Amino acid sequence: MIFSAAIVVLAALAAENQVVSAQYPTTFGPNGNVAPLTGTWSSGAGLVLTGVNEAGTPYFANPTNRSFNYPPVAGVAYSFTEDNHFEYARYRFIGNGSEPTCIKGVIGWGHGTWQSFPNGTIHLYPWEDAFQQIQDPCAPVSNFIENYNGTEYYSAWQVYQDTTRGLTARLYQHDGQPLPPMHYRGPPNMMPLRLLANATGTASEETASGGERRLFKRSGAERQSKVTWMSVGAAALSLVGASVVML
Ligand SMILES: *[C@@H]1O[C@H](CO)[C@@H](O)[C@H](O)[C@H]1NC(C)=O
Ligand SMILES: *[C@@H]1O[C@H](CO)[C@@H](O)[C@H](O)[C@H]1NC(C)=O
Ligand SMILES: *[C@@H]1O[C@H](CO)[C@@H](O)[C@H](O)[C@H]1NC(C)=O
Ligand SMILES: *[C@@H]1O[C@H](CO)[C@@H](O)[C@H](O)[C@H]1NC(C)=O
Repeated sequence: MIFSAAIVVLAALAAENQVVSAQYPTTFGPNGNVAPLTGTWSSGAGLVLTGVNEAGTPYFANPTNRSFNYPPVAGVAYSFTEDNHFEYARYRFIGNGSEPTCIKGVIGWGHGTWQSFPNGTIHLYPWEDAFQQIQDPCAPVSNFIENYNGTEYYSAWQVYQDTTRGLTARLYQHDGQPLPPMHYRGPPNMMPLRLLANATGTASEETASGGERRLFKRSGAERQSKVTWMSVGAAALSLVGASVVML
């Protein structure tokens, strides 16, 4: 059953490959990849997803008011199109070797354009409506949303057949650390491919960098708190890259 489903997926991808062959080398990069990155991929049970459900409701993030629909578990998801658009949804816990009780939660969403290079490197260029929230039990401001606007560099990508999970993708961060394996969930599923909010959020509540905004806390009880938020660039990414990612 699973086997035949995998064949269908592969057949579909084979058909798709005809279209994208101009963009991808025949082996889909230097790692013996069996298929292009085109499609939607997510880790684990697939509870973290990009895009929208059948009713058109976002699975993960509401960029227009910069809120998240917190998934029940951590995970990462990426969607890539042939015409070089992407969307990601990430909910991760990051440990701190020197402070084992200081486990940060980082939840983030972004979309934009991406580029792959013959040497296997890929670059993601998120638009300025990308945003993320960091929950740090050990920091003075323990829960804030920030703009997240930096180019993401991945040193390599891989697409292979996993014997039990089927078509699987791996992305390696700039420092070589792999993200968790992500399984093929179907064609690209993305929010509209345009800027869904500006860098300071939507027209509504915000003033400017350093202002205050409300955000939902993870409690799920829709508790609202006023927090300071700030704009940062790629600093957050290097922080993530420098830490141990636990999923
Ligand atoms: C943000 O927008 C979504 C979708 O319109 C809505 O379901 C959600 O309740 C809103 N959240 C906040 C915090 O305003
Ligand atoms: C880990 O904890 C130490 C001490 O609190 C802190 O200085 C350091 O920035 C933390 N590292 C990360 C990656 O959060
Ligand atoms: C791969 O190519 C890109 C684009 O030319 C470059 O930025 C990157 O540094 C290269 N990576 C390696 C590992 O050579
Ligand atoms: C996002 O990047 C653009 C282009 O580099 C820059 O003009 C803008 O100021 C950045 N926004 C934030 C919030 O960092």
